[in-house]
Amino acid sequence: MKSVGIRSMGAAVPKKILSNQDLEKMVDTSDEWIVTRTGIRERRVLESHETINDLLVQAALTACEKSNISPGQLDFIINSTLSPDRISPAQAFEIGREIKAEKIFGFDINVACSGFVYGLAIAESLLKVRDVSYGLVTAGEQVTRMVDYTDRANCILFGDGATATVVTNDQPDHLIVATEMGSDPTLSNEVVIGGINDLLNDKSGYYFRQNGRSVFKFAVNKIKEMFEVVPRKAGIDSAKIRYVVPHQANIRIIEAAAKEITSNGTEFIVNVNKYGNTSSASIGLALNEAWNRFEKGDLVLLVGFGAGLSWGATLIEW
Ligand code: UT7
Repeated sequence: MKSVGIRSMGAAVPKKILSNQDLEKMVDTSDEWIVTRTGIRERRVLESHETINDLLVQAALTACEKSNISPGQLDFIINSTLSPDRISPAQAFEIGREIKAEKIFGFDINVACSGFVYGLAIAESLLKVRDVSYGLVTAGEQVTRMVDYTDRANCILFGDGATATVVTNDQPDHLIVATEMGSDPTLSNEVVIGGINDLLNDKSGYYFRQNGRSVFKFAVNKIKEMFEVVPRKAGIDSAKIRYVVPHQANIRIIEAAAKEITSNGTEFIVNVNKYGNTSSASIGLALNEAWNRFEKGDLVLLVGFGAGLSWGATLIEW
């Protein structure tokens, strides 16, 4: 079976910053409450004339350039999103059109904040069993367009952003050694964003809502579980994991999970303070920022969790 790994990444965020001080002027909140409860200080927000495709294209071109391949060499694009520019065609094709990836097959996946790690797992499988060499896993989210800016409990949490990752079986630099995808559909009402029916009726059902406390506990448990289960699949002792790159939802979730994990040598990558929760773009934004800190042989665990409720993880040997 061919080895598969990631080779390069690109990332892009909007220029416009929405700070906690800006939010203080919009809803009854405070910088102190937001920082203490979430660790978020600011987030990036698309302006009305911008699209998520603008960011995805920028990220995709950067990722291809860093891998020294032309977009025309890509065999497929898997785009993770719960907030595409259009329902159809898939965002993957809109990216493909702009970057001139002329021979791709492609599709979007919607697994909320677990989407990036699901995308990597699907890409790995395709690259192992089909006659393909290069895939691009993109994640682009504009959740700020799906939150109610009069709802102080939720509007403070989110930001927009996009990432793109080249996955290949042709001399992969950073090997994917194990993956996991899971869900508990009995909890599908815990995190919800509405859709067509809500837009036709009372628009209030369209906006993001969640059972924050139960999602918090679920997230901490899942990070801990993935830390044990995923390395075991590859016969690796979890104590050898050097870095965990978790979904960036809340600093308290990350700190609580880190406390549960007894391995002293493990460091958690955090950038939620700058971008907030960017759903499936968040792990990629953190991974891209930390890229140069990793050394050859480091074990890096990416962990996603979110609506579904869903979870997933990818263990990479750098
Ligand atoms: O990617 C999707 C996955 N989702 C998550 O990862 C979120 C997981 N959950 C969380 O991160 C936390 O549950 C939140 C950050 C969303 C909320 O924190 P919490 O400690 O669970 O707060 P709470 O919702 O229980 O609210 C506590 C208090 C309430 O006031 P009372 O009832 O105690 O008087 C809220 O009304 O804080 C109040 N509150 C606020 N106060 C100031 C809620 N939002 C705000 C706000 N500013 N923005």
